[in-house]
Amino acid sequence: MRGFETLCSDEQDEKSPEFERIVGKSPALEAVLEQVERVAPTDSTVLIQGETGTGKELIAQAVHNVSRRYGRPYVKLNCAAIPFDLLESELFGHERGAFTGAIAQKIGRFEMAHTGTLFLDEIGDIPLPLQPKLLRVLQEQEFERLGSGRTHRVDVRLVAATHQDLAQMVKRNEFRGDLYYRLNVFPIMLPPLRNRREDIALLVSHFVETFSRRMNKRISNIPKETLDAFTSYSWPGNVRELQNLVERAVIQSDNGVLANPLPPLDSSLIRANEVAVDSVILPSVQEGTLRDSERALILKALHASGWIVGGLRGAAAQLGLKRTTLIAKMKKLGISRPGPISNAGQFGEDENKGLAL
Ligand SMILES: Nc1ncnc2c1ncn2[C@@H]1O[C@H](COP(=O)(O)OP(=O)(O)OP(=O)(O)O)[C@@H](O)[C@H]1O
Ligand SMILES: [Mg+2]
Repeated sequence: MRGFETLCSDEQDEKSPEFERIVGKSPALEAVLEQVERVAPTDSTVLIQGETGTGKELIAQAVHNVSRRYGRPYVKLNCAAIPFDLLESELFGHERGAFTGAIAQKIGRFEMAHTGTLFLDEIGDIPLPLQPKLLRVLQEQEFERLGSGRTHRVDVRLVAATHQDLAQMVKRNEFRGDLYYRLNVFPIMLPPLRNRREDIALLVSHFVETFSRRMNKRISNIPKETLDAFTSYSWPGNVRELQNLVERAVIQSDNGVLANPLPPLDSSLIRANEVAVDSVILPSVQEGTLRDSERALILKALHASGWIVGGLRGAAAQLGLKRTTLIAKMKKLGISRPGPISNAGQFGEDENKGLAL
């Protein structure tokens, strides 16, 4: 049986706070949770990677909660938050007088986590000179406090996380290859929210419930346009950004209706020189030519589908067109997916660039 649950808001169980809620039912998230279940009972090192706000810390906690170490210490350290020269003593501890300012003995995080789990967040920020000592404790489970020759043995399971690409850092000699391979025993890659849009509605209702309860407000209606705006937004800050926007929306809401904190369209999706945001709203026959109307209709469908052209939920299906017909029309009308690269989405040789077909 799974030790954590994937929940939607109406399934919340206030009696099991030990399992922080991981909301979502997308196949991509399910695959991650299966990996957690598989690796948790072992003592293997887990390396969690993913963009900011994707839930790395939540997953690290889940690994501990589902493991046999649950109930033992769970110690966290964000390697990016500790000044370079204090990190070694933070990890391994020091004896009194080990360095200027070491007025008392200090126990390090490895010792604190003995018999439990140590979560090292932002592991990519561990300075190179400290990496051999970390490798040793992972391999031998032993280390010395600063200023002491006495070797300590610990039984610690390590879970590490980073938003950086460690393999690339190894190539650039910014991270030791031997430590990377030792950490990468069981990698878990968290998918960005834009690749699991199925989870967005569940997350929205989960956070609406959380914040409305906290603010003592009753929200009974999430309008379709608001949900559409949430579903088609690109979420560069992933679940954290969504959480913060829902909080803002709940603050702005009146009469039980969730306000839309996003502009009607994610304007970053529309190239400034391509079409004004307003023109995506279908113009009336009097206002525009047939070509304008066709263009607006296509853009509206593309926006609604998150720029997916083919497939059951793609823009072509919405418009009742064949995928190839829609692509031909897009070419004719000069419609291409907006992107950060100046030429992104230009048709021609680069026909498929930036489009999910
Ligand atoms: N699937 C999820 N269900 C519910 N809440 C989630 C989910 N994923 C993330 N969150 C929430 O989103 C916020 C960000 O998650 P978390 O801190 O784990 O992200 P992160 O990947 O560690 O980000 P960063 O790289 O910026 O540290 C947290 O408040 C977390 O509880
Ligand atoms: Mg984090």
